[in-house]
Amino acid sequence: MSEQIAIVPAPRELVAGEGHWVSADPAAEAVRTVVENLGETEYRIDVTPDGARLSAGSEESLRYADQTYRQLLDAATETDGGLAVPAVHIADAPRFGWRGLMLDVARHFMPKEFVLRVIDAIALHRLNVLHLHLTDDQGWRVQIDAFPKLTEVGAWRPETMVGKMSHGQTEFTYDGTRHGGFYTKDDLREIVAYAAERGITVVPEIDLPGHMQAAIAAYPELGNNPDSQLGVRQIWGISDDVLNVNDETVEFVRTVLREVLDTFPSPYIHLGGDECPDVQWRTSEAAQARQAELGLTDAGQLQGWFTEQVAAVLTEDGRRLVGWDEMVETDCPKDAVIMAWRSAQRGEVAVKAGHETVMAPCESVYFDYYQGDPATEPLAIGGNIPLRTVYDFEVIPPGLSAEEEARIVGTQCQIWTEYMEDPERVGYMLFPRLSAFAERAWGSPKTSYDEFLARLRPHLARIEALGLNYRPLD
Ligand code: ACM
Repeated sequence: MSEQIAIVPAPRELVAGEGHWVSADPAAEAVRTVVENLGETEYRIDVTPDGARLSAGSEESLRYADQTYRQLLDAATETDGGLAVPAVHIADAPRFGWRGLMLDVARHFMPKEFVLRVIDAIALHRLNVLHLHLTDDQGWRVQIDAFPKLTEVGAWRPETMVGKMSHGQTEFTYDGTRHGGFYTKDDLREIVAYAAERGITVVPEIDLPGHMQAAIAAYPELGNNPDSQLGVRQIWGISDDVLNVNDETVEFVRTVLREVLDTFPSPYIHLGGDECPDVQWRTSEAAQARQAELGLTDAGQLQGWFTEQVAAVLTEDGRRLVGWDEMVETDCPKDAVIMAWRSAQRGEVAVKAGHETVMAPCESVYFDYYQGDPATEPLAIGGNIPLRTVYDFEVIPPGLSAEEEARIVGTQCQIWTEYMEDPERVGYMLFPRLSAFAERAWGSPKTSYDEFLARLRPHLARIEALGLNYRPLD
């Protein structure tokens, strides 16, 4: 790499200057300062023949300046006197405050070392949130001291279905291979600290009251049919086995959440809320009694009640509830942050209902979808989101008022791992779509797709240098 300035995501403003700064060690010799005349999220880089100056409105923004500067140094050329860094003026700040990646470590457990490399990639792309989807029907991945069986039992499944799950499928073949794993509290504290050093918040998700089959397998009293011999789920799709709405279960979840709060300092805690079938609540005597006691007209309304009961633990600790967009329909607290996943339109509904919203629509930023012809790509869940679709993504849907737009606090891409059993496959699905996503999350100018590809080609070496896999460009 030389003389081609390839910064990803592109800064908001970059003006090439005259000449070069020659330095034996330009990384060490650049002057870095936090200054008062810049906004907290702003930074500037000025390279002139006299030197390099990085200035920023906060320590956090100075980190972004450094990320950009390091990418700029890839354009330096060797000369007799040292490295010649091209003169340039960069003025930059992120468009959105929430620039996230969700990694599903529940469907397939991902080793801690890989999570750390993903954090490196998040930092490289000047993103700032790692949302860890820690629990689901197919696995429970977070150590909880009060309830050891959540990981002794819930973190393991004896085998996994083979091939693509189709709608209404009842017959399955299995791989005969035990799969599982979980993070100890020490692991998670290490992940959180590693991320924090890079200005990244780790937002944990405990998905409830649906997507809880692994927990119910460990503690059958949490379910609506405690006598059933439920195991950790071995097929994909949505389980009808959801938490019951008994007082003891509310207390159980509160205890779990207190331990989660103790491990994760994040101001935001995600409590899922997606895809929660109410079939069992409709027939369960206890759930029906609870519904009558609360004067609810529909079993589905129990979800809002349950979430409110357990989310009290978050509020008491000064944390903020985050949930998937189904939560808007379940009478959730007004200050809940909503993650719009079913469509961009669900995001519009959420902001119009007054919620701060993170745009995460499956039609644009679900990286478990195919990125090329399914005939030649590895098996994926479906859909079609090629790199260009991500590059063309508009975070803010048209037609919102200025006040509604201001409630869109950011955007997030998702990597669900049903069909990704190891880091190599996750890397293939994640990169370089994450690079295109970062441009939209940061607010890089949309010049042209070809211009983006020209910057992306040399940028792939940076992803590779982190030890991460990626899909080669077409
Ligand atoms: C989701 O994709 N179920 C949030």
